[in-house]
Amino acid sequence: MEAILLVGGQGTRLRPLTISTPKPLLPTAGVAFLAHQLARAHASGVERIVFATSYRAEMFEAAFGDRAYGVDLAYVSEDEPLGTGGAIRNAARALTCGPDDPVLILNGDILSGHDVRAQVKLHEAAAASVTLHLTEVDDPSRFGCVPTAGDGRVTAFLEKTPHPVTNQINAGCYVFRRSAIDAIPEHEVVSVERETFPSLISSGAVVMGYVESGYWLDVGTPEAFVQGSRDLVLGALASPAMPGEPGERLALAGARVAPGAVVRGGTTVGRGAVVEAGATVIGSVLLEDSFVAEGATVRDSVLSRGARVGPGAVLDGVVLGDGAVVGPGNELRCGVRVWPGINLPPTAVRFSADD
Ligand code: GDD
Ligand code: MG
Repeated sequence: MEAILLVGGQGTRLRPLTISTPKPLLPTAGVAFLAHQLARAHASGVERIVFATSYRAEMFEAAFGDRAYGVDLAYVSEDEPLGTGGAIRNAARALTCGPDDPVLILNGDILSGHDVRAQVKLHEAAAASVTLHLTEVDDPSRFGCVPTAGDGRVTAFLEKTPHPVTNQINAGCYVFRRSAIDAIPEHEVVSVERETFPSLISSGAVVMGYVESGYWLDVGTPEAFVQGSRDLVLGALASPAMPGEPGERLALAGARVAPGAVVRGGTTVGRGAVVEAGATVIGSVLLEDSFVAEGATVRDSVLSRGARVGPGAVLDGVVLGDGAVVGPGNELRCGVRVWPGINLPPTAVRFSADD
């Protein structure tokens, strides 16, 4: 089976991580995020994937070449972003399958444990135009809300509505009949969520929902990105691309964790990264050459390349851009993002243990 992978978004919500690297290429549990999607796609019977690229397009081919994780790869880029539907239509130029064949479409920021073969089976049994993977979330207003009838047919598609009618949402993995892709207008900006799905449904085409609520995560926010990496390291979602066994931490070659440092909760310690004695790092992502000094505490945070946390500093739910420095004694919490190269000087005020 062939697939199209949508990887053209700017990853705005993940800045500053995505200033230099597109979201799908961010190191996640030791490898580029997409490695997990490619390896899982291969395990589901996908043999060839066309990347629909736009933002920093050249970096994808440089990362994966023409074959990776058992899958043949092709790249089709948009000069201007064409939206999700326009990108699918544009990338279809590189497909080789026939008009009635199923084509898998994947959002490039999803970790999912669902059974893709079962989704394709439902699609074929129902002779559907499109079959969407649907899952349930607590807050459906941030996603495509997708009600279905008793027979599994999708009855509406409501993208990011403030008044969702169900907790069932679009999980960002579709099976399209090839001819339904070819029916999307060419060379135009089209949203598959706001235009293609609603118009297929209102025209009476068979659009099916494949409902499965196993492991599922959109890694599009800093909190979700850290959670995805942590879950992969801990083994909550098995990935054939993981460069090591699941466990409390993944230390890549060239990482240095001092005896007496506590590093756990699914933390990744990248190449050349250092955690000094007496430091505590929990559930975090330490990228290449980052540094956590003695007595510092880092929880649920991302340290980009070369970022440094000084002695005794505390980070909780924080993103440090490339080369950012948090001086000794600072305390950053709750979604703070520090842009690349910013240097927070040591705190002038010193607290004693009983303050
Ligand atoms: N090539 C290309 N061109 N890709 C694009 C473009 C474009 O113009 N715009 C977005 N993409 C890619 C992104 O890179 C991402 O992989 C995917 O399309 C979805 O875009 P997001 O920006 O991540 O959308 P979202 O998370 O807000 O919403 C989408 O995903 C949800 C599930 O996570 C929608 O499909 C929702 O309906 C869905 O619930
Ligand atoms: Mg997304």
